[in-house]
Amino acid sequence: MIESAWDYHRRTSYDRHDMTGHYMDWSCQPNVFKTYPGRETAALTQDIVLSQENLSDILIDNYAPVLDSEIDAVRLARILHMTHALTAKARHGGLDFYYRSVASAGALYPFELYIAALNVPNLDVGIYHHNVFSRSLTILRPGNALSEVSRAIGIEEEGQPATVFFLTSIFFRSSWKYRERAYRYHLLDTGHLMENLCLSLKSERLRFKLHYDFEDRIVNELLGLDTTREVCLAAACVWGTAPFPTDRPPGLGNLAPDLGVCSRVSTREIDYPVIREIHTAASALIEPKEELPEMIERLGIVVQSWTEVSMIGKSPEEMSYPDAVLQRRSMRNFVRDKMPWDYFTALLKALCSDAVTKDNEPWISNSVLSIGFLSGNVEGLKPGFYLLDRKNHAAIGFVRESFMMEEMAHVCLDQAWLANSALHFLFMSNLNMLEQTWGPRGYRYAMLSAGRLGQRIYLAATSMRIGACGIGAFYDDEAVKLLGLNNQTNLLYLVCAGPIRKWSLPR
Ligand SMILES: Cc1cc2nc3c(=O)[nH]c(=O)nc-3n(C[C@H](O)[C@H](O)[C@H](O)COP(=O)(O)O)c2cc1C
Repeated sequence: MIESAWDYHRRTSYDRHDMTGHYMDWSCQPNVFKTYPGRETAALTQDIVLSQENLSDILIDNYAPVLDSEIDAVRLARILHMTHALTAKARHGGLDFYYRSVASAGALYPFELYIAALNVPNLDVGIYHHNVFSRSLTILRPGNALSEVSRAIGIEEEGQPATVFFLTSIFFRSSWKYRERAYRYHLLDTGHLMENLCLSLKSERLRFKLHYDFEDRIVNELLGLDTTREVCLAAACVWGTAPFPTDRPPGLGNLAPDLGVCSRVSTREIDYPVIREIHTAASALIEPKEELPEMIERLGIVVQSWTEVSMIGKSPEEMSYPDAVLQRRSMRNFVRDKMPWDYFTALLKALCSDAVTKDNEPWISNSVLSIGFLSGNVEGLKPGFYLLDRKNHAAIGFVRESFMMEEMAHVCLDQAWLANSALHFLFMSNLNMLEQTWGPRGYRYAMLSAGRLGQRIYLAATSMRIGACGIGAFYDDEAVKLLGLNNQTNLLYLVCAGPIRKWSLPR
């Protein structure tokens, strides 16, 4: 029985000398689009006007919402489009396959998006599922969900939100390929989706709050999920200015029994109890007793010297934020050209935005995750291993000088092309410290945060027309050894970035 994140992470580690061959059974390939046969849908407007601002304009540190903004059906359609959209089509095995605005391990897209509309002009109150394929909302439960949302999330003095977004993951979509290791990807992938949502809400200058803490049972029931197959991993409350109607709409009716059936994505699914066990273990909410420890000091890494990196200057973006979201793809055609310094600092800037928050929210605080990077080919930077201190305005800590890109490519299941990328960003966590502070739920915070920051690297890279690719496949112990981490710390995720073929500096 898996009861701790440490146990789960160890158990799902890859070992070069102990890789059991796994053949993917195409006869039970999961459906990547969730459907609700026979249920009514509400069309979302396709007539979407997108902003032309840059990602760096959205990722400013002093983000402040515009207080008179309202969230209506048109705005909701734009938010959804910028959060999760189909962006490219390919033919695989005689069938159409759609890539999306969100990166996902193995292109398996385990995540789904739901909305509780509490006060959205032109949209009836109720619970909806976002159908990314048809760009519509399926009505799951008409009625006012305010009381369930309040019980599940705890709505504070800020008042009633206009909308609440819920992000779920369907286990079998990823475990079909990755088996027990899939829970890592459920969290990382959902983090990628979460960051797209967060950026689109910021771009709309709306007031919102992300929630990784909520009563799992109430939320899963609210959405009508079959929790042996699909679970909620994150939520976001969004406030608008439209006055609430004086006559309160009736509450939600009873849950229709057929909703849960729709969490099934294949006629023959394989259950991996370990995934359910780690998820259940992470359902308990723990209030940390003491001051939050700084993860960066607990990795077992000795920093030789710290240097503050100046973030002044315009980011070399060549593409607007919406274009970057809609054109983002995983790139593997890296070339060994030097990454110019301003490209490097633009990536750091993207990673450091929101690093310091007033209320020290765990998913973005430095108590769950530390970022490091291997520099292979960056102008003005010795090849080597560095840490990034997000709190201190992007100070970089020099750990050791060495060209480690080839060794890391070897650790990453011999994905040789990785050696050509200029940078490997490393997301690391001391799982022991994480669990002492947050219990197993800390694993959710850390992995979701890593996914969020990974999506940011992708978008920042795309907007500068360089490449990025997330890497979830590595021999875990070899990574620990190569980086010199202590025996409580693990690499959770790696995202590489750098110049790609056909790349040229804008002049
Ligand atoms: C969590 C995660 C892990 C990934 N791991 C790898 C990897 O190990 N190797 C790789 O080549 N791509 C990896 N990818 C990239 C996916 O294969 C890619 O996102 C997916 O095929 C969809 O393609 P797109 O990103 O171009 O839209 C990963 C992506 C994510 C989000």
